[in-house]
Amino acid sequence: MSQDLGVELYTASEIIAKKRDGKELTENEIKWFIKNLENKNIADYQAAAFLMAVFIRGLNAKETAYLTDAMLYSGDVLDLIDAKAIDKHSTGGVGDKTSFILAPIAASLGVVVPMIAGRGLGHTGGTVDKIESIQGFNTSLGTQEFLALLKDKGIAMIGQTAQIAPADKLLYSLRDVTATIDSVPLITASIMSKKLAEGTSGLVLDIKTGQGAFMNTKARAKELKESILETASRFGKNMMVTITDMNQPLGNAVGNSLEIIESLETLKGNGPKDLTELSAFLAGGMVYLAGLAKSHKQGIKMSLEAIKNGSAFKKFVEMIEAQGGDSRLLYDYDLFPLARQKTEVLALENGYISGFDNKEIGFSCVALGGGRLKTNDKIDFGVGFIFHAKLGSKVKKGQKLLTIFHHDHQIQQVEEIKQKFEQKMIKITKTKVFKVPPLIYETKVVWSKPHAK
Ligand code: URA
Repeated sequence: MSQDLGVELYTASEIIAKKRDGKELTENEIKWFIKNLENKNIADYQAAAFLMAVFIRGLNAKETAYLTDAMLYSGDVLDLIDAKAIDKHSTGGVGDKTSFILAPIAASLGVVVPMIAGRGLGHTGGTVDKIESIQGFNTSLGTQEFLALLKDKGIAMIGQTAQIAPADKLLYSLRDVTATIDSVPLITASIMSKKLAEGTSGLVLDIKTGQGAFMNTKARAKELKESILETASRFGKNMMVTITDMNQPLGNAVGNSLEIIESLETLKGNGPKDLTELSAFLAGGMVYLAGLAKSHKQGIKMSLEAIKNGSAFKKFVEMIEAQGGDSRLLYDYDLFPLARQKTEVLALENGYISGFDNKEIGFSCVALGGGRLKTNDKIDFGVGFIFHAKLGSKVKKGQKLLTIFHHDHQIQQVEEIKQKFEQKMIKITKTKVFKVPPLIYETKVVWSKPHAK
């Protein structure tokens, strides 16, 4: 079909072919494509072909800006006009659940947190899928309801909706199942379109790097950092960008319900060290960007205190109840829809844990039903893994390395996953010949607007 946008006429296949052949797209072509995607004049298979052409050929900085803008203005753009409104986003990883900890921490300290998050993407879990393991929790609020909750509670957590960032909602679910995720321009446009639509004054961005991240090398992580900072500065947003490690699962839990339970334990002060440290680090950045701390360091201290004195957990309970979730689960984990079968994976030899195949671990959770293989797949909230050892740990033959949570009918599949863990997904070496990577590689704060203090 040929459609008019101003005076120009295009067809979807012409635009796909132009990108397939490595040519630069104009602003109008990109706008036209996104508008017609939204209006359902472009079929999913055409959008998927467009995504693959972009994935292979790339977009230059100008085209990335046009795509981000077209996706941003595909829906409502809120204006919170509040310097204290700050969000955080992660590029995605395995066991990455910091949002459930840092959002209530920051909100309990006075930051307004309007979090528009995503579902699972590829081998990584998604904030929206995970939080939906709390029965009744509504992640599809309308704009007015979302704004009302922010005013009342200072925190709300939703997915992209038909009103906010609808183009990202469509493209995100296609990218999840068409091997078109790890592209700098597509990630930039996806993240920034929804984060700019929130109308916050600033954003903390956690770029994951390592074997289980979309940006698997530091060079790629830095490329994404520059692309995101460029977009943020065009829109006058204050940013804290960190590059952090994703060579092993963050915390110990992987899987929807299991990750929420681990987040709750972290909010109650019993969390794993890496998860607690990174959550406080990122929350501290939000508090600092909001002008509520004199320095990032002070923000971190305030964040740790908010865990210790229970105010962060209290804020999480408030958010769950305000969005219709069953808050009894927050005190009684047996009410989570957890799979009841447990299979343990043991170390086959003495040695040191020297590597996790983090991507394969994520895909194994997806294969058990914790993520999607097709866009309309239903999520299984109950499956997943609890790891009992981290990179660098000394282990003895027969020691428990992890527990697999699964259903009765999955016994055969779990046996295969268990063998993969033993043979390649967890590497054990006789001597400690490697260096455990740091949790946080680098951090940069960029003020586009004067500090809010
Ligand atoms: N998070 C997003 O929101 N989009 C991406 O493309 C990757 C991570």
